[in-house]
Amino acid sequence: MHKTELIVALDTRTLKAAETLMERLEGSVKYFKIGSVLFTAEGPAAVDLVHRRGGKVFLDLKFHDIPNTVKGAVRSAEAMGVYSVSLHLSGGAEMFKACAELEKRPRLWGITVLTSFDEYNFFRAGYRCGIAKTVKSLAALGLANGADGVVCSPHEVAILKGIHGSKLCLITPGIRPAAAGDDQKRAMAPAEARAAGSDFIVVGRPIIEAQDPAAAAAAILKELK
Ligand code: C5P
Repeated sequence: MHKTELIVALDTRTLKAAETLMERLEGSVKYFKIGSVLFTAEGPAAVDLVHRRGGKVFLDLKFHDIPNTVKGAVRSAEAMGVYSVSLHLSGGAEMFKACAELEKRPRLWGITVLTSFDEYNFFRAGYRCGIAKTVKSLAALGLANGADGVVCSPHEVAILKGIHGSKLCLITPGIRPAAAGDDQKRAMAPAEARAAGSDFIVVGRPIIEAQDPAAAAAAILKELK
C-alpha cells in the first residue's frame, strides 16, 4: 500500500515556539520543514533543535541562483546533516545538475509552481503556458537532472504519477483539512492528496494555528492511514 508521510512546517518565528510545537507533537511526527521564517530568525540552531529531538529536516529555503552559488548552498546544507533541501526547478538544468553531481548531498527536491498560484496570478507573473503544462515540464527537467523529488500542488499529483509512475517522489504543500480561503490556492484535504498519490504532504498553519496542534496532527495522520 502506498504510504504518505506528514511533514510539519515549523513556520514559527522563534526557536522556543518551534520547540513547544515539537514537544506537543512528540512521538507522532518524524519530518519537520524549516523554511525562511524560522531559518532567517534562528539559523542553523533550528536544524540542531529538530535533530536533537530525533526529527528529520526538510530545509525549504527554495534556492534559486547561479549554479555555483546553489551548489555551495547545498554543500552547506549537507554539512548541517539535513534530510532534504528545496531548489527552484526554474533555476534551470545546469543549476540542478551541478547540485545533483555533488558526491555527498541531501535529497534534492525541485519546486515546480508554488501552491499559492492560481492561473490568473500565474499569467500575471509572466508565465504563458498554464500551471499544469509548466509543472509537467519542470518535473521532467528535474527528473532528467537528478532531482530526488518534486514539489507541486496535490492537484498535479495524478498527472505526474500518470506520466512518471512511482519513480517520481512527490511532495505536496497546499494541504487543507477544511477550506481556509487563504493564500494556498491549489489546496486539497489530506485524504484526497493521499488518494492522488502524494508521497509527502506538508502542513503548516492547520497544525501550528490549531488550538490543539497534537489533535490537529493526529486527525491528519488518521486521514493518511
Ligand atoms: O501553512 P501552510 O500549510 O500553508 O504551509 C505550507 C508550507 O509549505 C509553507 O512553509 C510554504 O512556504 C511551503 N511551501 C508551499 N508551496 C510550495 C513549496 C513550499 O506552500 N510550492
